[in-house]
Order: sequence, then C-alpha cells, then structure tokens
Amino acid sequence: MFSPRPPAYAYLPDVPALPTDAPAFQASLLAWYRTQRRRLPWREEPSPYRTVVSEFMLQQTQVKTMLPYFARWMAALPDFATLAATSEAEVVKLWEGLGYYTRARNLHKLSRSLVARPELPRTPAEWLELPGIGPYTAAAITSISFGAPAAVVDGNVVRILARLTADSTAWRDTTSAGKALTPLADAVLNHTEPGDHNQAMMELGATICTRHNPLCTVCPVRPFCAAARAGDPEAYPRLAAKLIENRTVLRAWCRRPDDQALLLHRTSSTARRLASQHELPSAEHLGLKSDALAAAGPLLATRKRGITRYRFTEPIHDLPAATLPNPMPAELIWVPIALLETVLISGPHRRWIRELLASRRM
Ligand code: ADE
Repeated sequence: MFSPRPPAYAYLPDVPALPTDAPAFQASLLAWYRTQRRRLPWREEPSPYRTVVSEFMLQQTQVKTMLPYFARWMAALPDFATLAATSEAEVVKLWEGLGYYTRARNLHKLSRSLVARPELPRTPAEWLELPGIGPYTAAAITSISFGAPAAVVDGNVVRILARLTADSTAWRDTTSAGKALTPLADAVLNHTEPGDHNQAMMELGATICTRHNPLCTVCPVRPFCAAARAGDPEAYPRLAAKLIENRTVLRAWCRRPDDQALLLHRTSSTARRLASQHELPSAEHLGLKSDALAAAGPLLATRKRGITRYRFTEPIHDLPAATLPNPMPAELIWVPIALLETVLISGPHRRWIRELLASRRM
C-alpha cells in the first residue's frame, strides 16, 4: 500500500512515499483501462504517426474538442511523408481552431526531421532532441509506440500521485510538482506495459481522478489512495493560486458596402504563435483610444476568454469605414466576406465573426 504513509515521510514532505505494492496497483489500473477506456482513434488503430499527432493535439486541448480535428488531419495528412511534403501554410491552416499554432509548426518540422532519417528513433533521449518534443511527449510517444519504460508526468499524473500519497507539499506550480513526483511516477510504472500504463494514468486523470468531484466510488485504484481514505481528495495537489489579471481589449467590426471586412493580418508579429493569423483589429491596432472606438459605433457584442493568467473582456464595436484612420496602419487589410473561410483566423475570432455575421446580417 502507498498509505498510510510511513511516519518517517511525515518529516520529509517532498519525498513521496515509495509504493511497496506497485504490481497490485498496476494490475488494477491496467485491468480497468483495458475494459473501460474511451475508444479513441489513436488507441484502437495505433501507429507512431497517429500517436505523435494525437499527443501534439492533446498538449493544450481536451480529447472531445480535438477529435474532429484529428479526423480531418488524418484524412488530409495520413503519414509523416505526406505531412513533410506539405507547406507550412497548409499545415497551419489545417490546424485552425485548435490554437497554439506553434504545435502545428513544430509537428511539421518534426515530420521533416523524421523523414530524413532511415528509421524512427525509439528512445526518449533521441526524441527529446527533435522539434516540439519535451519530456512528457517523449515519454508518451516512446512508451506507447515502442514500449520504452518511460513514465509520463503531467497535470493529470501529478494530481493522481499527490492524491495516492496524500502529499501535502505546497508546490509553486504543476511543473515543480511534476519534478518532485517523477521518482514516484517511475516507481509505479508498469515496465511490461508502459504504453498502456501511461495511457491508463492519463485516462484516470481525465475521467475519474478529476480536479473537482473525483469519482472515487468507481476508481480502480481507490484501495491504494490515501486521499480517498481520508475523504479529502480535492485537497490535493496543493498548488499556489495563480494570480489572475483582468484586461479589456476593445475590438472593431468594420464592413464596407462592397462586402469586405477589415482584419488585422499579423505579418511581423513578435509573438510567433500569432504569425500570419488574421483577427478583428483592436483599438490599439487601429491607432485609436478605446474611448474613441467605443464612441465611433454601437456595441455589437462582448466576448470573454482566458489566455494563460489573463481574463480578457473584449467588447466589439461597429466601426463605420468612414471613420478609419487615413492612411491605415499597414497590417490592416480588407478581406472579402465571401473569402473569410479561406484565410487563417484564430479560433475565437473565427467564432465571433461567424456570430456577428449570423446575428446581425452584418
Ligand atoms: N492526453 C495526452 N495524451 C493522451 C492520450 N494518449 N489519450 C488521452 N488523453 C491524452
């Protein structure tokens, strides 16, 4: 049992209690995964390519959101060779809607380095040298595709391990918790079935050992869990609260009588993740004070979203074309409404534009 934790560890809060019965834990976890897992395309029909693409897509996106993108991607780019032979612009366009476009660019670069090799690398150390691959992805890909004995550690795994051991260390963030808990992740790894073990940990974190309202009554590893036994699983892991900052960004919807809409086209963005994307221009992009944009035309909608530690509120105002600054800033362009679907637009902006077009016959 991992718990109750041996008293010695009470004095060493950042040393995880070492499991003495890892085999029983692994067996319960694996039996549950093999019968109860979600039937996901990269699990039911696995290949290194499908594993790599799924891992890239899942880095910042939930399974249910990414599934249609995964299907679309596989239909267009079925293997590393096709991906490597496609232009970056086409690849990024296919990624549209998933956000965090650096992932698409890295996946594209990765495919080009892989096809230049005689065969796929098989160890985490080799994968770590490749574009876009960090310790988590290296462990996931090599354990799932090649049976490498490498434990994945991400937010899900941190949550599971902290609860199993009722580890009350107060961590600065998930990354430092992950570093501290890596020895425990390695100690409980099933070396015979590392790929399924890792996927089972991911699955447990996504479906049972959730951040809020974990489903302990149906958890396959409940007998091993100190936090469940104490009745307070939600108390773990203890992570410092993030400082949230509120920001307001006014944006303009500007449509000309000849059915063209004004968009910002980031050609020289310092933020690489935004390069070559289109979006609704903000007051700042237009060279206007927020008050001036708000006064120029009626409020059409207000949208809210979170990006990292910021909470953005984005009121969108109708801006008459006649009030645009002359000359216009260079990154502002007119795009025919009929062609909006063909240009790269960041996910939220695409949604807002569709809503504006639908709701206001704009
Ligand atoms: N999250 C990251 N990798 C995953 C996988 N292979 N299955 C489900 N969720 C995941």
